[in-house]
Amino acid sequence: MKIKSFLKDVGGASRVTKLRGQTLNNASSKNLYIDPINATAKALHPGPIEVVCTKVEEVSPTAKKYTFAPTNGVLPIFEAGQYVSFDLDIDGTKTTRPYSICSAPYQAQGENPFFEVTIRNGKKGTGYVSIWFYENVKEGDKFIVNLPFGHFNYEELRDSNNILALAGGSGITPFYSMAQEIANGTLDVNLTILYGSVSHKDIILEKELKEITSKTDKVKFINVISGEGEELQEGDEKGFISRELIKKYSVESDPTNAKTSYFVCGPLVMYQFVEKELKALNVPLRRIRMEVFGAPRDISQAEGYPKENINKVFKLTVRRGIDEVVIDAKACEPLAVALERAGIKNRTRCRSGECGFCRSKVVSGEFFVPKVGDGRRAADKRFNYVHACSTYPLSDIVLEIPIL
Ligand code: FES
Repeated sequence: MKIKSFLKDVGGASRVTKLRGQTLNNASSKNLYIDPINATAKALHPGPIEVVCTKVEEVSPTAKKYTFAPTNGVLPIFEAGQYVSFDLDIDGTKTTRPYSICSAPYQAQGENPFFEVTIRNGKKGTGYVSIWFYENVKEGDKFIVNLPFGHFNYEELRDSNNILALAGGSGITPFYSMAQEIANGTLDVNLTILYGSVSHKDIILEKELKEITSKTDKVKFINVISGEGEELQEGDEKGFISRELIKKYSVESDPTNAKTSYFVCGPLVMYQFVEKELKALNVPLRRIRMEVFGAPRDISQAEGYPKENINKVFKLTVRRGIDEVVIDAKACEPLAVALERAGIKNRTRCRSGECGFCRSKVVSGEFFVPKVGDGRRAADKRFNYVHACSTYPLSDIVLEIPIL
C-alpha cells in the first residue's frame, strides 16, 4: 500500500515538474505586473543616469553654464532649488560634486529634456573640481549623474509664498532655477533676490535674471555691491546684505510677522554674516532655509574652529568590516576628502553634511564639525556618528565606514 502511494506521488511530481517547465518556456519574458509604487519610486529616483554635455556658454567673465541631456532621453522630476551630484574621475581620483541645478524643472520634461549647472572659476578659493570642470568640460563629454537631491525648494506647507533670496557667488544658481519656473507659470511665489557681489564683474547670470524681471513682476533682482569705489548701477544697493536691507525688502516691515521666507545660499562667510542679521531681526527659525554649498573653502574661518590645527596632518585609521588601513588626514580637509585621496570608496552626495550618505562612526579621536555643516541627528551625535564630508580631524582618528 505504501509503495503504491509513493509511486503515485513520484509520478505526480514528475508531471508537475514537466508542466512547470512547459509553462515557463511559453511565458513572456516581460514582467506582467508592474508595481505602481515601485514604478513611481523608480521614476523619481532612477539611480545613476548617463548625460552628455550639449552646450557650454559663458555667463560672466568667470562663470560658464553647462547644458546636459540624458542619453536615454529621460530625466527625473525635480524641484527648483534641488541639486545634481556628478560622479567624477579626475586623474584617477574618484570623487563626486554637487551642483545646484540652475535650469527650470519644466525644461527637464518633454521631448528634449535637459538640465543646466553654472560653474564659477574665481581661481582664488575655487575648489579644484570646479576649476577642472571649468577648464576641461566641453560639448560631447559624457558623465554619470544622480538627481535630484536636496530640500532647498519652495514647499507650500512649510514656506511663505513671499521668498527673499539672500545669495552670494555661485549661490545665485538655485534662484535662477526658481525665477525661470515662476516666469513659466509653474511656480506660484513672489521672489526677491538680494545678490551680494564685490563688483559688477563678479555677477553671474545677470543678463538672464534681468530678462526674467522684465517679463514678470513676481521676480525682483537687486545687486548688493560691496567693493570700495565700485560704481553702482540703477537699482543697486551698496554694502553687504545687512539687516537694514533684509528689512527693507521683506514683505512686512517687521520680519517677526513671518510673512516672508528667507532662503540663503552662498559662501560660508556670507552664511555666518546673514545668520547674525536674521537673528538680530528675530526672524522665526521656521522661516529660514539655508543651502550649504559643499565644504567650506577655508575651515579656519568657521565659527569655533581651533585655528592652531589648520596645518597639521593626522593619522586616520579606517575600518571597513574586517579590513583596516591607516592613511593621512589633513586638518584643513574633511575626512571624506582624505578617504578619496587614499582611493577608499565611500558614498557622498551633498558634501556639506546634510544628506547623510557619508555617515560613519568615529571610534576614537577628536574632530570638528562646522555649525552650518552639522546635519547629524541628535542620536547620531550622542553615539559619535559623523558625516565624513563635514568632519575635520583635530587628532589621530579611528573611523568605521560602511561596507558598500
Ligand atoms: S555627503 Fe551628504 S552628508 Fe556627507
